[in-house]
Amino acid sequence: MTALKENIDWVGYVDWNIRDFHSYDTPRGATYNSYLIRDRKTALIDAVKAPFVDRLIRNIKELSELSKIEYIVCNHAEPDHSGGLPEMMKACTNATLLCNGKCREALSEYYETAAWKIEVVNPGTKIELGTRSLNFIDTPMVHWPESMFTYIPEDAILFSMDAFGQHLGTSVRFDDEWPLDDILLEAKSYYANIVNPYGRQVQKTLEAAAGLDIKMIASSHGVIWRSHIPEIIAAYKDWAGGKYVPKLLVFYDTMWDSTLRMTEAIVRGANSVSDAFDARSIHVRKTTLTRIAAEMIDAPAVAFGSATLNTQVMPQMAAVMTYIKGLKFRPKTSFAFGSSGWGIGGPELIRKWLEELKWNVIEEPLKARNRPTPEMLTRCAEIGAKLAQVAMEV
Ligand code: FEO
Repeated sequence: MTALKENIDWVGYVDWNIRDFHSYDTPRGATYNSYLIRDRKTALIDAVKAPFVDRLIRNIKELSELSKIEYIVCNHAEPDHSGGLPEMMKACTNATLLCNGKCREALSEYYETAAWKIEVVNPGTKIELGTRSLNFIDTPMVHWPESMFTYIPEDAILFSMDAFGQHLGTSVRFDDEWPLDDILLEAKSYYANIVNPYGRQVQKTLEAAAGLDIKMIASSHGVIWRSHIPEIIAAYKDWAGGKYVPKLLVFYDTMWDSTLRMTEAIVRGANSVSDAFDARSIHVRKTTLTRIAAEMIDAPAVAFGSATLNTQVMPQMAAVMTYIKGLKFRPKTSFAFGSSGWGIGGPELIRKWLEELKWNVIEEPLKARNRPTPEMLTRCAEIGAKLAQVAMEV
């Protein structure tokens, strides 16, 4: 356990071993953060994933009897936080669950809640604990409809559920105890993969939070922000606002190196424009969807190339296309290319997909038949340079 303040303690669980969080790649594990507040009344903020509820209970028991818990707040119904609630509501015999109306509905669909004491809270509701109070801010679609923050004004602590979180297992709990660049990298990945589809709602949430005195942001994943709050708020503003850096990502999959040769020509052409420009090739079978999304968030220009396999794109490119479509990135400048032996296939399907996304397609697809000719590679380099010039103007 770690104290955030006197009588406010982290009692969550570090899952060092998780590597796949519903398809989110978690090479360094994850945490499920719960917080125990002991005042004249005792409250728990959020539970943990169901398999780890015994550890949550063990941690709480080191500080308090379970019967002393009068409130359990559920900021977010997703089962990585609510999965432990059935056990907690059974074990904490005097507890009332605090959540908003949408959360109550979602919890009743996930669990048998008929026997639970539930009090619906709204913005404006104040739950007095003694010297402190719990206050609530609805944050719909950041990232589920029922998402909510809990705020303790007396300590200026914002319990922000998933927002500002990171999938990062650590032995320390605070942002000033771990390299900041590393935390921000994981926060960016978390934003891109989990929160990005709801950028406008994030901006509204940031506006609501701007009116609060915040000295600590205690998310439900990763480290707690206490020393670098301006940095994470600024980063969220950049990501939600669509701030770009001068770079081109060229995602590709290749069978017999034809699409690879085109990729290399595009990257070479883009990097010839300026030393300050960063064009990179990324083989989609040599990375993860999670890393692809994290790279996408601040890229103004993206090209996609695929060999043709049975009149389709290569299978992992299809997965990339599906994943990117769901994450609703802001429109980017884009280009489709690839190769085939005969018939239509990869490049045409990528072009169609880019049209569906309503992205700016700067050139018609380039398709090599079997091998790209030297003339086609020259054309690839020209298009790479054009992509770089457009990207640098954004
Ligand atoms: Fe950490 Fe949306 O759950």
